[in-house]
Amino acid sequence: MGKISFPKGFLWGGAIAANQAEGAWNIDGKGMSVADVAMYKPHIDIKDYVNQWYVGLKDIENSMKAKEDTYYPKRRGIDFYHHYKEDIALFKEMGFKTLRVSIAWTRIFPNGNEEKPNEKGLQFYEELFKELRANNIEPLVTLSHYEMPIYLVNHYDGWVSRELVDMFVKYAKVCFDRYKDLVKYWLTFNEIDSVFRHPFTTVGVVEEKYANKKEAEKAIYQALHHQFIASALATQYCHEIIPNSQVGCMVTKTLTYPETCNPDDIILAQRDNRNNFVYTDVQVLGEYPRHLLNYFNKNNIDVKMNEGDEAILKQYTVDFISFSYYMSMVQSINAENREKVGGNLVTGVKNPYLPISEWGWQVDPKGLRVSLIDLYDRYRKPLWIVENGIGAYDKIEEDGSINDDYRIEYFRKHFEQIALAIDEGVECMGYTSWACIDIVSASTSQMSKRYGFIYVDADDLGNGTYKRSRKKSFYWYKNVIKSNGLD
Ligand code: BG6
Repeated sequence: MGKISFPKGFLWGGAIAANQAEGAWNIDGKGMSVADVAMYKPHIDIKDYVNQWYVGLKDIENSMKAKEDTYYPKRRGIDFYHHYKEDIALFKEMGFKTLRVSIAWTRIFPNGNEEKPNEKGLQFYEELFKELRANNIEPLVTLSHYEMPIYLVNHYDGWVSRELVDMFVKYAKVCFDRYKDLVKYWLTFNEIDSVFRHPFTTVGVVEEKYANKKEAEKAIYQALHHQFIASALATQYCHEIIPNSQVGCMVTKTLTYPETCNPDDIILAQRDNRNNFVYTDVQVLGEYPRHLLNYFNKNNIDVKMNEGDEAILKQYTVDFISFSYYMSMVQSINAENREKVGGNLVTGVKNPYLPISEWGWQVDPKGLRVSLIDLYDRYRKPLWIVENGIGAYDKIEEDGSINDDYRIEYFRKHFEQIALAIDEGVECMGYTSWACIDIVSASTSQMSKRYGFIYVDADDLGNGTYKRSRKKSFYWYKNVIKSNGLD
């Protein structure tokens, strides 16, 4: 490939989330979140993600009684809570311009409905953001990344209750007020579109509370509407209180190809792609797409919208679009006769042209270029890739080195495609790899599914020294950043 340069000031960096990294799940006043309920699931069948990720009332009850963390790895994460200075020093060494982190709502409001925030939680993030600034690393902060307070699930039916809008906006305001001099870039909800993939984790909906699938679907749409409103109101306040702040939405880019040129395959793929655009349509264009409103009508899905909600969505749209990209999918009218693959909690038809990761996720760098172009052409808003990476088993050599050439290869191919998209006119603000340091997997809660440039000595059940070490990809990424993508 010829030398195509990344824009000056391109924000290179990495991403992690509180629930998978911090640990310290029950100290300094932190409340219990939906992540603390997530069990270790090493044997997930990627062809059946949805059922295996199901969390029911009994699961919640049992996990709330369990006080240990062995089978609840997100409770311990990689102990970023106590290691963050050391980790930031390593990110600095790689030359990071930015780090995407999230705030655990339960550190600030342990149950979600308290009158006053927990000062110790506020202090932790204040110190974290100061440490980033001291190292010239721009924080990109997600307000909610898969860790709402479990109290709100048990006592309010999660986001189905309108009250959650006020509670979340209060939490967001506390964060904006406190960190207004430290944080300029904000994201409201991580992968807001994941609401149907794992409603418990995203909006606190426990499906068995509903009479049937239809009722559960209505509840999930209601919860989603409340998140859209909460996100818009948070955006409004952020713009008022933090000059030059920028707020982004965050979606999973699930690009779908038709298996053949049979128009029926094309229509199926188009339907999936259109559904994937719903969330950005609402948060960027400020209104529900007509096809979704028609669907509500035809299926008697009565999403309660308060007077003024439409205006809120229209008025407080986001400044940029951020997204995760891991893989592409294939749709076919003959899906039942085809081999299946999974990834990112979706299952589809296998694409014979693409390799798969050790966890069965289809690796498709060119799909990232297609996604960037599609998103930019549709919305004309700056884009930020805030998650992209490969989960793999890493091997430690006798001399302690980790030669993760597969990871380097993965990133190299994706960066080439980003450069090509930029060359075609796409405005891309930055790139934060997932995850820049090994952390606990979201879907399986495994530690052995590693994404980082930095290795953490911990196994699936929490044994290990938690010592950090540099993988081969660490030095490679350092060079990429140093040369602004040219090398
Ligand atoms: C994204 C999530 O969907 O995928 C992350 O936002 C998650 O939290 C990432 O970690 C990778 O998924 P997994 O299951 O391999 O950790």
